[in-house]
Amino acid sequence: MDPPAPQLRIFPDRAAASAAAAALLAEEVRAANARGRRAVLGLATGKTPIDVYRELVERHRRDRAAKSSWDVETFNLDEYHPIAHDHPVSFHAFMRAHLFDAIGLAPARRHLPDGTTPNADVPAAAAAYEAAIVAAGGIDVQLLGIGANGHIGFNEPGSARDSRTRRVALAESTRARVAAEFGGIDRVPTHAITMGIATILDARKIVLLAFGAEKARALRAALAPPPRPELPASFLQEHRDVVVIADEAAAARAR
Ligand code: GLP
Repeated sequence: MDPPAPQLRIFPDRAAASAAAAALLAEEVRAANARGRRAVLGLATGKTPIDVYRELVERHRRDRAAKSSWDVETFNLDEYHPIAHDHPVSFHAFMRAHLFDAIGLAPARRHLPDGTTPNADVPAAAAAYEAAIVAAGGIDVQLLGIGANGHIGFNEPGSARDSRTRRVALAESTRARVAAEFGGIDRVPTHAITMGIATILDARKIVLLAFGAEKARALRAALAPPPRPELPASFLQEHRDVVVIADEAAAARAR
């Protein structure tokens, strides 16, 4: 039987959509913890989830004030390669700034692909990353953004359904989009380490965020059958529990 179509939730603006996404993540954490389990979150970077993390930090603060702590372990989708952990544009730095430090997440509970791994050691490090996800019990809920070219994580167009964590070349359009943050396109890494499509689809629940008119085409293409490597986000159609949280602008072509 075909999996059910992704559930599309449309909000008037990014703030309302971000609040809804944060509420959903916080609920996953509470539900897992209430069952005596640590919650395992798959996390994304980029501009899209920034307000989600702000809301999540606020929810964490309120729960802490109510003497309810969160037991959480996190796995990020991707990281540039090579890049130093303290590079201001690294995803390590992003996560510290937007979430990890504010919720006091222990370093041992934070996992990201390592942008400092020597090339020759990446296959072993990637296999270890996959094994760490399995050892944690698998990802309960994976947060995703979508690239204007339909990428998820750094799975650029052409990525295979069965891809796993690996080193990938970045699309030129992806590099161009972040050139200003790096101070020029020549300073943008040419490669990254990313969870694969199969890694992402192993998560028990997936929350795809799409905000702004620049994502409208990619979102519509992602929801249109069939799943295809040219539009990596379209593989989400093969998952049984996908919630798309979009603002009106991103959803304009998707309905
Ligand atoms: C980035 C990340 C993706 C992200 C996407 C969209 O490069 N690797 O995980 O979802 O591109 O980014 P943004 O949220 O800034 O639009």
